[in-house]
Amino acid sequence: MDGAVIPRAVVTGGAGFVGSTLVGELVRRGTRVLVVDDLSRGSVANLHRTGGGSAELLRHDIRDRGPLKTAFAAFEPDVVFHLAAQIDVRFSMSEPFQDAGVNVLGSINVFGAATATGVRRVVNTSTGGAVYSVGVRVPTPETAPTAPESAYGTSKLAAESYAEWFRRAEGLDVLTLRYGNVYGPGQDPRGEAGVVGIFCARLLAGERPVIFGDGAQTRDFVHVRDAAAANLAAALAPAPRHRVNNIGSGRETSVRDLADRIAAVLGSDLAPEFVAGRPGEVRRSCLDVRRARADLGLAAPLPLDEGLADTLGWIRTLR
Ligand SMILES: NC(=O)c1ccc[n+]([C@@H]2O[C@H](COP(=O)([O-])OP(=O)(O)OC[C@H]3O[C@@H](n4cnc5c(N)ncnc54)[C@H](O)[C@@H]3O)[C@@H](O)[C@H]2O)c1
Repeated sequence: MDGAVIPRAVVTGGAGFVGSTLVGELVRRGTRVLVVDDLSRGSVANLHRTGGGSAELLRHDIRDRGPLKTAFAAFEPDVVFHLAAQIDVRFSMSEPFQDAGVNVLGSINVFGAATATGVRRVVNTSTGGAVYSVGVRVPTPETAPTAPESAYGTSKLAAESYAEWFRRAEGLDVLTLRYGNVYGPGQDPRGEAGVVGIFCARLLAGERPVIFGDGAQTRDFVHVRDAAAANLAAALAPAPRHRVNNIGSGRETSVRDLADRIAAVLGSDLAPEFVAGRPGEVRRSCLDVRRARADLGLAAPLPLDEGLADTLGWIRTLR
């Protein structure tokens, strides 16, 4: 993969956490990038932070189809990385219509514009933490049954189905990556999404991390640079055998262990505080990543302690 160049790429959601990291990587490799983002959560500052500041930015809502099609046709991308999404699980439960508007209809618009422009490949983004059935084998392979608990998981899975429909009906070359819990520099430590950032910020402020429940719930934490690298690999793989691949570390880490590890990296002796668990929270989540590694030729993931040190270093710069 090293040295291979994608001449022109569109990155939807490219001003967000994962998207901006990918844009920075593409720019470093000499790719001309058009970011399509409505900046509802992302920012231009993210692009500057990751080295993606020279990318073109179209501030646009992917639900609005006409201008999206026009922009794709004018830019003529080789590859489209589709990361724009409504990512707030709780919002999806109270506003499933709004969630589906972005994640399903918006995705259809992106796949349609990509088809009309004749791109070489689309890399679609989904979630390994919210689509699989409760009680499936852990680590969970891509072949495990799906039955999302949340509206968010449902909309992401629906977008995967539409990707597959565009492939069959329109010949669109599209792959989907299902991420574990992505963490690392750039993730909003005040946000709802990232437990790593929240724990890091609290410990750095001399406060105890707050754990909902007993802390034995597990997650698969994957560094944002590994997620970006997986996108590049998915774009460049000459003939991937599978259309859906898990992107994670393949390691199951409990939330309690996570808090202890961050404290250890910091040399802090602050113990976590336990509060009542949140209903509906997934108990165990860890992805079987063997198929993705073989199919896409991925390198070994960054060890968690190194990724945590990296994240702490970044959060320190914010203070
Ligand atoms: N962060 C994780 O742990 C994680 C896990 C699984 C899957 N994902 C997926 O990865 C992708 C990126 O997530 P992220 O964590 O970087 O989130 P993020 O919120 O930082 O990035 C999403 C970006 O999409 C943009 N956006 C939202 N609605 C839009 C719209 N209607 N039109 C145009 N742009 C819009 C936002 O402004 C933002 O910049 C998403 O598809 C998400 O579902 C993330």
